[in-house]
Amino acid sequence: MTADEERAVSGDKQSDDSAIERSLRPQQLAEYIGQDRIKENVAILIEAAQQRGEPLDHVLFYGPPGLGKTTLAMILAKEMGVNIKTTAGPAIERAGDLAALLTNLRAGDILFIDEVHRLGRAVEEILYPAMEDFVLDLIIGKGPSARNVRLKLPRFTVIGATTRLAMMTSPLRDRFGIVYRLEFYDEERLSEIVRRSAVVMDVGIDEAGAQEIARRGRGTPRIANRLLRRVRDYAQVRADGTITPMVAQEALSLLEIDELGLDSIDRRVLEAIILKFDGGPVGLDTIAAAISEEADTIMDVYEPYLLQLGFLDRTSRGRIATRRAYEHLGLPAPRVDAPPPAQSTLFDLA
Ligand SMILES: Nc1ncnc2c1ncn2[C@@H]1O[C@H](COP(=O)(O)OP(=O)(O)OP(=O)(O)O)[C@@H](O)[C@H]1O
Ligand SMILES: [Mg+2]
Repeated sequence: MTADEERAVSGDKQSDDSAIERSLRPQQLAEYIGQDRIKENVAILIEAAQQRGEPLDHVLFYGPPGLGKTTLAMILAKEMGVNIKTTAGPAIERAGDLAALLTNLRAGDILFIDEVHRLGRAVEEILYPAMEDFVLDLIIGKGPSARNVRLKLPRFTVIGATTRLAMMTSPLRDRFGIVYRLEFYDEERLSEIVRRSAVVMDVGIDEAGAQEIARRGRGTPRIANRLLRRVRDYAQVRADGTITPMVAQEALSLLEIDELGLDSIDRRVLEAIILKFDGGPVGLDTIAAAISEEADTIMDVYEPYLLQLGFLDRTSRGRIATRRAYEHLGLPAPRVDAPPPAQSTLFDLA
């Protein structure tokens, strides 16, 4: 088990998330809270495609884990009234695996490819003409007798999802007619999501209780829902089952999650930069070594939220802890704007 898997505040999916996530997942666009711009665009997309009686254009969703990319893909299929087949970049190992998936699609079907940045090169080569011209180019046979065969495919839709847009090849990115970036949710929206989930889970919560959870949800529905589950347990065992602000605060402080949703590992990242490296700039690998974490994990999991809070700055020379980070940790802020002593002063002191 990695450190990340133990964290209540990681945006990444964890083992006990799957079943419950399915039950908490909104089924219709109207139930999907927040991401208003995307929602409006998607509604127009669906209506226009339905009016023309055509399949949807290929859609790519990108953004940090747990913000609702998979949920949106499922909603699109449901609203279009079409089948959705789900796969993921690493699951399609050979070109033949993709060919098998494609030849089983019917007109209008959606092929959802999660972690689409992790498709192999040979697989991508098959996907390009399939997405663009709805054809499948196969090579049959081996050696001198090998020949190319072109099969026609029904018109279908690819929905791709990725947390790493930069790792996608540009030819693949260009095949998606529509690209949406999901944003972190504000506290009000997250609190709405918490209240909706509490109704689904049949647990009593008041508005202020939901806000306490939302404030620590790092702008991420998956995390807010996970915290809700932990708080529900606490409410059941240590209180009368209802989630009040007091109950939420007690439960979350027991989990060592502070009022902004930072946990002990986030604090270690900031403390390392401040205490060991004078506030930075310091390279990612150096931070990773200092706290025994993987550089990739720090970049994908901890940093986005610390950047979002304005606690970290990413510069070409490395990471810098900002004044707000010092304040949040209760550490004396570094002196700023203090001009370097003039040469003469240095000599005088010496
Ligand atoms: N807008 C929303 N309204 C209500 N609940 C949401 C919303 N977005 C996400 N959720 C909840 O958060 C959970 C995680 O969302 P989802 O699985 O769609 O995230 P994701 O972006 O696909 O994450 P990953 O990058 O890890 O695949 C869902 O089960 C759902 O319950
Ligand atoms: Mg997903």
